[in-house]
Amino acid sequence: MSSLAGKRILLVISGGIAAYKTLELIRRVRERGGAVRCVLTKAGAQFVTPLSLAALSEDKVYSDLFSLTDESEMGHIRLSREADLVVVAPATADILAKMAQGRADDLATTALLATDKPVLVAPAMNLRMWDHAATQANLATLKARGVLSVGPNEGDMACGEYGFGRMAEPEEILRAIEEFFGAAAPLAGRRALVTSGPTYEAIDPVRFIGNRSSGRQGHAIALALARLGARTTLVSGPTGLADPAGVDTLRVESARDMLAACEAALPCDVAVCAAAVSDWRAKKPRTQKMKKNGKAPPDLELIANPDILAKLSAAGNARPQLVVGFAAETEKVIEHAQAKLAKKGCDWILANDVSEGTGTFGGDVNTVHLIDAGGVDSWPRMTKDDVAAKLATRIAKTLGRAPDTKSENRKS
Ligand code: C5P
Repeated sequence: MSSLAGKRILLVISGGIAAYKTLELIRRVRERGGAVRCVLTKAGAQFVTPLSLAALSEDKVYSDLFSLTDESEMGHIRLSREADLVVVAPATADILAKMAQGRADDLATTALLATDKPVLVAPAMNLRMWDHAATQANLATLKARGVLSVGPNEGDMACGEYGFGRMAEPEEILRAIEEFFGAAAPLAGRRALVTSGPTYEAIDPVRFIGNRSSGRQGHAIALALARLGARTTLVSGPTGLADPAGVDTLRVESARDMLAACEAALPCDVAVCAAAVSDWRAKKPRTQKMKKNGKAPPDLELIANPDILAKLSAAGNARPQLVVGFAAETEKVIEHAQAKLAKKGCDWILANDVSEGTGTFGGDVNTVHLIDAGGVDSWPRMTKDDVAAKLATRIAKTLGRAPDTKSENRKS
């Protein structure tokens, strides 16, 4: 059965250049068995014609709140309720503002205010409009009300500028729609393990060795895997992040605790080690706070921590089918990461440049290169959420394939 068979989508098209992409979206939803009914705003009609929408959706296109025929045939309340999901694509800054304020001055906004169905928005606008505090506040309000969103992406804009604001591609919106309906659960029945955040290694009861990892990338990966249906365990060092929805999160402090939690979570199909594990710990952490007492600074004897990624990669029968590591490098990123792939014995390494000025540590964006035995796949700069979604999709594709001889050997 097609993944969206029997699902009804009310597609609201507001006035942005990205409206042309919704034509493709309609085609893709219909290919998967979904039905699409379009509501076109006045501004949207400047970019796509009702005729194209009607031809692709094979349904009437609604645009006028005060049309007697429309009202007698359907009625705007029925229109807003006779759908399983309302999708706004493109969602301009204006329509997001109106949705946040509850304004209803045309058919699209009236339907959005009247609907009792879930709503997914695909924002599309100039990057300054996207960055504006008003837009961000409007989106936050909508999200707090349960409105789902997909994108925007970073890239060239129709206005000649470059940045965030491009509407998500039809394929990504389709994926979000399928995820909503639980139709795209390629990792259903699979188990995933993700490590995230820093580790803290005690020196004494108040001091520790740690690092600046925010945990954002690892947490996003856990969420993305869970969204694709994997039963996901996240083993996280200390971070200020909330536990991701639908993920079994275990909070730990030290590398040894992280390793123990990971081993307890085996067996699993895929392990992604995104944590920035401290390489060393104090050999003899003091039980009491060390005192200065005018003495010279203490000598801190360090010993190596266990390498969780290497241990999971060499876990014999319990080895996950796919083991993924990260390599945070400040120079010769790919070269060092390739060496790490061999040294750790994992299947993929995601290499990222964390040198000063990249903003990777603690930031929202990441530039990664996926390195495996076959070579290097360099991804464009994108948000950590998008890196997570792309990685989860690739994991799903890989696990979905029949096991190759390499993985068969590993299991034996
Ligand atoms: O050796 P390095 O720390 O650069 O390797 C990074 C990769 O190894 C990351 O995937 C990290 O999560 C993992 N790692 C680990 N345990 C350690 C050190 C690193 O799992 N003790």
